[in-house]
Amino acid sequence: MSECRLPVPAMTKDDRTAFETALFARAAAIEILLRQILDVRPLSGEIARPERLMAAMRHGVLNGGKRLRPFLVMEGAALFSADGEAALRVAAALECVHCYSLIHDDLPSMDDDDLRRGQPTVHRAFDEATAILAGDALLTLAFDIIADEATALPAERRTALVLALARAAGAGGMVGGQTLDLEAERKRPDEAGIIRLQAMKTGALIRFACEAGAIVAGAPAADRERLAEFGSAIGLAFQLADDLLDLTADAEQMGKATKKDAAAGKATLAALHGADWAREQLHGLIDQAHALLEPYGERADMLKAAATFVATRNS
Ligand code: IPE
Ligand code: IPE
Ligand code: MG
Ligand code: MG
Ligand code: MG
Repeated sequence: MSECRLPVPAMTKDDRTAFETALFARAAAIEILLRQILDVRPLSGEIARPERLMAAMRHGVLNGGKRLRPFLVMEGAALFSADGEAALRVAAALECVHCYSLIHDDLPSMDDDDLRRGQPTVHRAFDEATAILAGDALLTLAFDIIADEATALPAERRTALVLALARAAGAGGMVGGQTLDLEAERKRPDEAGIIRLQAMKTGALIRFACEAGAIVAGAPAADRERLAEFGSAIGLAFQLADDLLDLTADAEQMGKATKKDAAAGKATLAALHGADWAREQLHGLIDQAHALLEPYGERADMLKAAATFVATRNS
């Protein structure tokens, strides 16, 4: 390609390998738990779990995502020496919300996509009604997982997690952002509008991912706020990288269709200002994210690596 590539801060090969090894290890743990949680046997208080619905939920969840949000929950919790088992369950709950958001995002009435994580989307593998219901059930399940006593935390921490996740996922967060994203196809927002839209549709869940570990640990409010701010910075970087990859990467690399945003008239900053500008912005966001973690010294190295990974990822 003749295009001039501005440097995005390099992650050394060793740093990337260490990070990816940690990400894969966390992903394996979360997948074991998700598989258990998505079992067809009903829990107490449930009547029955329909086989086809559960199969659609498993298709939408157990299909090889990066598991970045669970990783952030668990590393955030580790930063404050929190209970790892409880953090793992909160991470699983968040991944259920994320996977539901993807299942619904791919529906014909939304982005109309056939491919997700290299496989047919849930409505293609099953049918549209089943995909809608699988998403509904995953969203509900997320709150079940947190509220359940198996998430062995003081009740007020479980309530705080339920509240923060609800605020991040709902009308004032992810769902609201998805609404603005669809509206933006008809009426192009200005730059501040795009940033707000992205902070909602993608940023809110990533912000929660970073904040959740501090809640699990019962960390002081100032730490919780600092981690949330870190989440906002990398959330913005995450969507900027997603939009950049939509412009520059191919479907095989991404496991989902690319070059779709411009075709759909989607308002993205990468499309507005170009790929070089986006890379420069990503540079700034990594610096900002790293600066927020300075007070924690080396203990935050894995979260710092996550910030760099988010901005420099290629899938
Ligand atoms: C994709 O998220 C959806 C966006 C918010 C842009 P990820 O890139 O984290 O998707 P998976 O979970 O790894 O498939
Ligand atoms: C999706 O954004 C955000 C949510 C699912 C909340 P995109 O529509 O850009 O995500 P991809 O590119 O389909 O993964
Ligand atoms: Mg979308
Ligand atoms: Mg989409
Ligand atoms: Mg996208």
